[in-house]
Amino acid sequence: MPTKKPPQRALTESNGTMTALKDGAQPSAAARVRRSGSEKLTITILPGDGIGPEVCNEAVRVLRSLGTFHNTEFHFQEKLIGGAAIRATGNPLPEDTLRACLESDAVLLGAVGAPEFDHLPGPQKPEAGLLAIRTALGGFANLRPAVSFRSTADCSPLRRSIVEGADIMFVRELLGGLYFAQPRGFSEDDASAFNTMRYSTEEIERVAIVAFDLARTRRKKVTSVDKANVLETSQLWRRTVNEVGRAYPDVKLDHVYVDACAMHLVTAPTRFDVVLTENLFGDILSDEAAAITGSIGMLSSATVGGDVNLYEPVHGSAPDIAGKGIANPLGAITSAAMLLRHSAGMVHEAADLEAAIQQVLENGYRTVDLASASGGKEHVVGTAEMGALVEQAFSAMLERRFAYHAV
Ligand code: IPM
Ligand code: MN
Repeated sequence: MPTKKPPQRALTESNGTMTALKDGAQPSAAARVRRSGSEKLTITILPGDGIGPEVCNEAVRVLRSLGTFHNTEFHFQEKLIGGAAIRATGNPLPEDTLRACLESDAVLLGAVGAPEFDHLPGPQKPEAGLLAIRTALGGFANLRPAVSFRSTADCSPLRRSIVEGADIMFVRELLGGLYFAQPRGFSEDDASAFNTMRYSTEEIERVAIVAFDLARTRRKKVTSVDKANVLETSQLWRRTVNEVGRAYPDVKLDHVYVDACAMHLVTAPTRFDVVLTENLFGDILSDEAAAITGSIGMLSSATVGGDVNLYEPVHGSAPDIAGKGIANPLGAITSAAMLLRHSAGMVHEAADLEAAIQQVLENGYRTVDLASASGGKEHVVGTAEMGALVEQAFSAMLERRFAYHAV
C-alpha cells in the first residue's frame, strides 16, 4: 500500500501570494503552477442559495481528499453571492466576493436564486449576482456535458434504446445575446417590454473556436444551433461558424434550427457530439438535455475563455428541497472534475473522479432524484452520503494511481 502524503494545509487563510496573479495576459493556473513549482491553487467557493451550499460541501470534500495525495495544495476561500449576499450586504455580488474571485485560480459556484427575492427588479435579484460574476470573470464559453451513463440510463423518462451512448458537449455562448445586449427594459407606461438579441462576428468566432477545438478532442463533429430562417443574428452566427469551420477540415460541421434541435435531443440524442449555440438557446437546450441523463442534478458546467474559469452545476437552487440533505451533489462534483481538467491541469485525476462517480452509480447508490426508476434495487442515499461514497471511490483510484507512479 502506498503511504498517503500528510494532509496539506487546505483551507488556510488567504496567503497574500495570489493577489498579483490575475490579468488577461496571465497564463493558465496549471501553467503557472508548473512554472513556479509551488503547486498551490486558490479556489473561491460561492455556495449561494438553496441547495448550493449542500452540493458545494461535497465538491469541496472530494477536492480536499485529492490534496492528501497530490502534490498540490488547494486553498479554499468561501464568499457570498446571490440571495445569501443580499441578506448579508444588500448586494448580490459584494465587492469582496468579486475581488476574491478575480484573484483566484478557479471559482466553484453552487446556485443562486430564492423565492423571497422574486419581487425585486432584475438588477437586484440574486441572479444579477451570477450574471455579474460571469461578466467579470470574462468566460464566454460555457461547457455543459450531458452524458447518459449505462447504470442510470433507466432513470431517463426516455427509452434506454434512445439515450444509451448519448454523450453531448454543449458549448453555450455565455456573455452575449438577449441576456446582455442593450437596449432592454420596460416602456415608460409599463405596457411593453423589450430585449435585444445582438451578436458581433468576434463574439461568435471566439466561442466557435472553443467548440471546434473541443470537437477535435472528441468525435470531431460540431452541430451549430440557430434560428437562421427567422433571425439576422442567427444568419450572422451561421455564416461566421462556417468561416471558422474552414480552419477545421477534419471536423464535420452541420447546422440545425433550434426547434428541430429540441426535438432531436429527445428522439436521437446520440446524433450529437459538440453542440454550439448562443446564450438563451443554450440555456434552454441544456436543461432539456437533463432528460437524457436522468436528472438535472447530474449536469455540470465549466465556463472558460476568460481570466478565471467558473464551475457550476446546472441545476439551480431548488428551494423546494433545500436544507433537506437530499440534493444530488453529482453535478457539483462533476463540475469539480471539470475544474481539475480545465484549471488545474490534472486530466488524469479528473478522469479518475468521473470514473469514481460512475462506479458509485454502478454499485447502485442513488440520490432520490435518480431513485425511482430502477425497480427498487438501488440504495437511496442523501447528499453527504453520496459525496462520501464518491470520495472513497476516488481515493481508492488515486491510491492505485500513486502506487503505480511510486514503483
Ligand atoms: C443557468 C441558469 C442561469 C442562466 C440563471 C440562474 C441566470 O438558468 O445557469 O442555466 O439563465 O444562465
Ligand atoms: Mn438554465
